[in-house]
Amino acid sequence: MTRQSALLVFPIDVPQSAAFARTAHQLGFKVVAASSEPMAADRYPDYLPAYLPYVTEHGFGAALAELLRTHGIDAVFAPHPAIWWHLRTLCQSAEFPVAFHVCNESPYEMDWQSYGEAYRWAEDCVNADFLTTGTATPGLPLSNLAGLYRGYNQIPGQSDNTKLRALTQIARQTAPGDIVEIGSLYGKSAFALAWLAKFHRIGSVVCVDPWELSAIRHQGEQASLINAAAPSRDWQQAFLGFAASLSVFDNVTYLRDTSGQAVERYRQAADAGNIRSDEFGSTPITGRISLLHIDGNHKYESVRQDVEAWRPLVQPGGWILLDDYVWAFGDGPRRAGDELLATGGAKTAFTAADTLFVQV
Ligand SMILES: C[S@@+](CC[C@H](N)C(=O)[O-])C[C@H]1O[C@@H](n2cnc3c(N)ncnc32)[C@H](O)[C@@H]1O
Repeated sequence: MTRQSALLVFPIDVPQSAAFARTAHQLGFKVVAASSEPMAADRYPDYLPAYLPYVTEHGFGAALAELLRTHGIDAVFAPHPAIWWHLRTLCQSAEFPVAFHVCNESPYEMDWQSYGEAYRWAEDCVNADFLTTGTATPGLPLSNLAGLYRGYNQIPGQSDNTKLRALTQIARQTAPGDIVEIGSLYGKSAFALAWLAKFHRIGSVVCVDPWELSAIRHQGEQASLINAAAPSRDWQQAFLGFAASLSVFDNVTYLRDTSGQAVERYRQAADAGNIRSDEFGSTPITGRISLLHIDGNHKYESVRQDVEAWRPLVQPGGWILLDDYVWAFGDGPRRAGDELLATGGAKTAFTAADTLFVQV
């Protein structure tokens, strides 16, 4: 198969086909998008539309052979189990007049792939249990951890699976209270925090983020590449993505503001007992933070201000997490984190992935 080759995607109208066809097109393949259903001619402007009869129809084999010949196709992507099975039989038959192969594994294997990966991570997570002490609450079942992994990895963001594993551990040693996250973007780490808060009965998650370019542009001199890229993101889209990512939870809310502005609003919300939003309704707030995740502006002055403004609200035994403590684009989180450690109030401190975890 070369870049100029044509690929047949059949049927085009299922989600796996859409993702595969897009990647193939981006790689320079000519994509022939076929369906047995009526399809508007302009439905897939980047692909060549084609009609094929249902595989159960008498003329299917002849129509397929004609399509393969016309476009010089030698590879077919077929994510539907019955169609995949039929095409595999045809391509292995000496009687079928055109040589081709089915390029994807069995759709049943495709179905299991992301679940298998999730269960492998969940098993690693249980085996790497590093915080289990008398005070830890019981871990979650494998199926629950696998569900967390799958949901988390569907959300765009920069938090990785090593950090997720550490979060599952510390959540078991987190007292009831609020979880506050500074910097949520599309809600990847917030999803993990909300999930763990729900199943370990910790409390509500408050996500603080302006989702607004003017508030976040400058992250320090060393972060010039990140500063330069920021204007090309549509920050309202990131907010909409966040709201959708977290919409399955009833223990989440947000303050659309910078960390510095939001702290006073959080205090007022604690007095009122809740935060209201159109997307999440009324969310109870205690004003006692049991886990603070700082992942906003990474300039040294900003991270230090985040720590100074929010740390007084973190209850004894609570956690403060500094994302990007190990960072290729600057040393803001490291300097602020080292200052936090130097205050001497840490019961526990460790790094996992790029994040500093401190229990105060
Ligand atoms: C690295 S992203 C957060 C990633 C997110 N935690 C995840 O898991 O994908 C940084 C976020 O911080 C937000 N941000 C920047 N400056 C901020 C500030 N002063 N206060 C709160 N959030 C801020 C940005 O809008 C951006 O969404």
